[in-house]
Amino acid sequence: MKHLVLIGLMGSGKSTLGKKIANSLDYVFMDTDQIIEQKEGKSINQLFEEKGEFHFRTLEHQLLKSLKEEQSPMVIATGGGLPCFNDNMILLNEIGVTFYLDLKPGLLAQRLMQGKQKRPLLKDLSHEEVVLKLSTLLIEREDYYKKSNFCLPLEAQNLKQITELYLKAIQ
Ligand code: S3P
Repeated sequence: MKHLVLIGLMGSGKSTLGKKIANSLDYVFMDTDQIIEQKEGKSINQLFEEKGEFHFRTLEHQLLKSLKEEQSPMVIATGGGLPCFNDNMILLNEIGVTFYLDLKPGLLAQRLMQGKQKRPLLKDLSHEEVVLKLSTLLIEREDYYKKSNFCLPLEAQNLKQITELYLKAIQ
């Protein structure tokens, strides 16, 4: 059985929506950042500062490979960069039905201003710089994100639509 996988930039609501979907499908919810933090005993900020982004991307890839062995399907919220490194997008499409939550950098920046200190790629940036950073990341990442099984605009990013599409896809 395939997992239900949510993909998108920071602030796109993967975890918030993922928890609701998991609840309604009676699946376990997994946030890749959270699992890595628990396993390593360090925050994402600490991991970036102490060991660098390259090491973090290796941890993400290892975690993803381990999910291949998982028997029961889960709802997985991936870190924003995860699909774009180490051929992870190919792996995600193998193990899951993938949904890209497509949102504009301006809206994401608004949502992220409060929680940005927890995110190494955004902390210490002004609002304008956050918009610029997200726009750049989107240009770099969009080709990966768009390999998702479903690319959803804001109006389609809801529990009902996603569960329906998922249940149809796994039939
Ligand atoms: C990152 C996104 C973060 C986290 C890390 C790097 C990225 O996850 O993995 O800060 O490269 O976009 P969220 O998308 O859950 O914020």
